Amino acid sequence: MVQSSQVDRTDFVVVGAGVAGLRAAIELASQGEVLVVTKESLGESNTHYAQGGIAVATEGREDVALHLEDTVGAGDGLVFRPAAELLVQEGPGRVAELIDWGAAFDRENHNPQGELLRTREAAHSRPRILHANGDATGAEISRSLVAHAREIARSHCRIRFAEWTMATGLVVEGGRVVAVDLLDAQNVSRRVGVRAVLLASGGAGQVYSDTTNPAVATGDGIAIAAQAGAELADMEFYQFHPTALSLPGVPRFLLSEALRGEGAYLRNDCGERFMERYHAQLELAPRDVVARAIAREGMGANPADSRLVYLDMRHVTGIDLTVRFPGISRFLATHGLSLQTDLIPVRPAAHYMMGGIRTDLDGRTTLQGLYAAGEAACTGVHGANRLASNSLLEGLVFGARAAGAILADDSGFSQTAATAAATVLGLGDEETSLVEALIGRLQRSMWAHAGLLREETTLRQGIAELTEIALALRQLNENGRGSRRLFEANALASVAGSILRAALARTESRGAHFRNDFSRRDDVHFQKHSVERNGEVRFEAW
Ligand code: SIN
Repeated sequence: MVQSSQVDRTDFVVVGAGVAGLRAAIELASQGEVLVVTKESLGESNTHYAQGGIAVATEGREDVALHLEDTVGAGDGLVFRPAAELLVQEGPGRVAELIDWGAAFDRENHNPQGELLRTREAAHSRPRILHANGDATGAEISRSLVAHAREIARSHCRIRFAEWTMATGLVVEGGRVVAVDLLDAQNVSRRVGVRAVLLASGGAGQVYSDTTNPAVATGDGIAIAAQAGAELADMEFYQFHPTALSLPGVPRFLLSEALRGEGAYLRNDCGERFMERYHAQLELAPRDVVARAIAREGMGANPADSRLVYLDMRHVTGIDLTVRFPGISRFLATHGLSLQTDLIPVRPAAHYMMGGIRTDLDGRTTLQGLYAAGEAACTGVHGANRLASNSLLEGLVFGARAAGAILADDSGFSQTAATAAATVLGLGDEETSLVEALIGRLQRSMWAHAGLLREETTLRQGIAELTEIALALRQLNENGRGSRRLFEANALASVAGSILRAALARTESRGAHFRNDFSRRDDVHFQKHSVERNGEVRFEAW
């Protein structure tokens, strides 16, 4: 074990370089030095993979009001209305600012002065989804924010980036976060003293075996916040995107909701357009409804019985699908499929976490000095089911608001900021294989026990299996060594535990949380948010 006495300090650490983290870092750099920590290279985040677009009301007050109602409607009785009001009211200004910084959304006739093109997605009452390069909206938003942040870094050196670095812990003194522990690509762990930390580390799709999320989405920020004593909220609400590509041995590539916005049908293996049996809005019903319908049509209790479900665009005329959806078309072509001529096999996959670190409307968590924004946070803005394409907007609006709060609350460095020597960690080959095996087991268990359709027996089985996994991880942790994958495994176990506990406690069905044994919504007892602290779940009306 090698040690050095180097100890760092910086004003603000932002964990995560997706839309929320970058938007906040740009704001914070006006008042201090910002260290943006990202687990891989800059740009690798859930934001980058967002395809369909960013929902924003660009047609005045009436559109803002309708966007609010659509958001509240999709959230199935649990949206915290003041949060949704801020989202839809501040959204247009944040998107305009992003366009000023160079984000190029698709416009009529490919003309930079042309009208912005807007598409429709599920549960939106009108077309209001801006998109870029057809189906690569997140990548364009990420590109423009990274470029703007780099420009600030070049001109006044206020933003530094720590790529291939993960946050592994928070140091709390006197109820206040005073430092963050970081692990870099060389497995060197070091402690950085801070004035404040913003967790914008995204979601935890990797907690499930089937996910549209990239490998980095392991819920690290949520886990370290919980470990430090911060409250989590609404952890039972994990959104399953209805249409991920379903080919054996192929990752669950996202097939954007915008495909259905442009007219795609869903068919079962008898060719039936089955959404007619589930919801009046058919394929554009709220996402949780469509995902469950696909699960019911497609997944037998025994995987051997499973039936295929397909996305069908063969009837769609009047648009060139390879131009409107170039990224999706290219990916499908590598597997011999075409939107114009083929039925595309689909199945739901874990996509977005509505729950997360509990915050107020300005990103303040329940710990002083700790803030959260974007998918890692829970303001209650999405309730039990997020409206399509509201997540990028959430990152912009609440990333900027969290930065504002950090600057307003700032009381400087704590006098007693904890220090620790830099340490080189490591893990042997055998232990590394064991960690991978435990992660795989956890992911399969969560899919089987806390997926789209839940019940007490399966949730309890999930808790029992997680207890065994956590025990095995504890033994690995106890030998004093470590690695990024071991930290990720611990984070996944922590997030999985929170999902299971909250899902067991909510004995009703609402939004993305469906209980076979309590299949109705129960407003009398559960029009409330679940709040977890130190493993204890309670319900609160906000
Ligand atoms: C999609 O393109 O379907 C994803 C958009 C979202 O998650 O809101």
